[in-house]
Amino acid sequence: MVTIAVAIAGFGGVGRAAADLLLTRRDRYLQVYGADVRLVAVCGSRSGLADPDGLEAEHLDALEEGLTGPKFIETSAADILIEAGPSDFRTGGPGLSYIQPSLAAGRDTIVISKGALVHSGVKLRALAETSGAMLKISGAAAAALPTIDLLEHSLKGCQVLEIEGILNATTNYLLDAMMSQGLSFNEALGRAQAGGFAEADPRNDTEGWDTAAKLLIIANFGLDAGLVMEDLSVEGIQSVTKERITAWRSEGLVPKLVGHLANVKGKFRASVGIRALPISDPLARLRGKNKAIRIITDAMGETIAMGSGTEPLSTAAAALKDLEHILAARVRPVPVPRASP
Ligand code: HSE
Repeated sequence: MVTIAVAIAGFGGVGRAAADLLLTRRDRYLQVYGADVRLVAVCGSRSGLADPDGLEAEHLDALEEGLTGPKFIETSAADILIEAGPSDFRTGGPGLSYIQPSLAAGRDTIVISKGALVHSGVKLRALAETSGAMLKISGAAAAALPTIDLLEHSLKGCQVLEIEGILNATTNYLLDAMMSQGLSFNEALGRAQAGGFAEADPRNDTEGWDTAAKLLIIANFGLDAGLVMEDLSVEGIQSVTKERITAWRSEGLVPKLVGHLANVKGKFRASVGIRALPISDPLARLRGKNKAIRIITDAMGETIAMGSGTEPLSTAAAALKDLEHILAARVRPVPVPRASP
């Protein structure tokens, strides 16, 4: 049996959900991979953790000193870092100050926040390659919706011609509420905020930046597109009026905020904007706080995936899927006895 020590940097809703889920899945890791996975350190408040006994005291002492950034990475002495902090696309911080030293030390690193990947994704991939660390990013690439997995596994070997992604659940909810309930943008937003799933400052979602960030990460990590944010033209949904909604409805069209990637003779062009889809289009049927992706390839045609899942659990689960990929690669799996037929 191998012991695998995990640290979590960033202990808000998603970091806590990842900690709780990891602790409840310890038996599974033992049975499936022969790995005793221990949560040894968290950076941020520890209150609310389901099983504080899962944390090893020597590291907690260090954390009580309030260590952050490279000092936290050094002190936690984990085998794997899960980074779940806040996210700034312009600076990459604060995630970058955890992810960069973790990869530089050869530590396998699971990234959930998007900022560092948008800002420095190409450099971080190169750093991981040099140091031999695994860098996994499902939690940042639309999380519960499979995106990178499709590109890396299901569609392996195919040439991607086009991607359309409804990658932001909040804007899908807002447009759906406007279409189905006749609400104005502000009325729909008010409901989403009252329901606790739209941010107090929702502009990152409504102006298209969250969709743009996810599209860029999917393109750069899944297709080596080499895009920067300035390459994308980005339009949001904040100016959609009731009149436009009525017009779309009368024409049998359904508006969606779509991240679009086109392969133009080997060069990728990306944009985010509203697309009015015919009602017969499977993506037009995506309701509420959900996400979807359509990938068109040369040899496998059209693949569509749709994802739901309650936050923050589903994002934490996407990160722990990455953890299992790391365990499968790093730890010799123990065969699971099959049940008799
Ligand atoms: N606010 C995002 C969404 C979740 O609505 O999809 C975080 O990426």
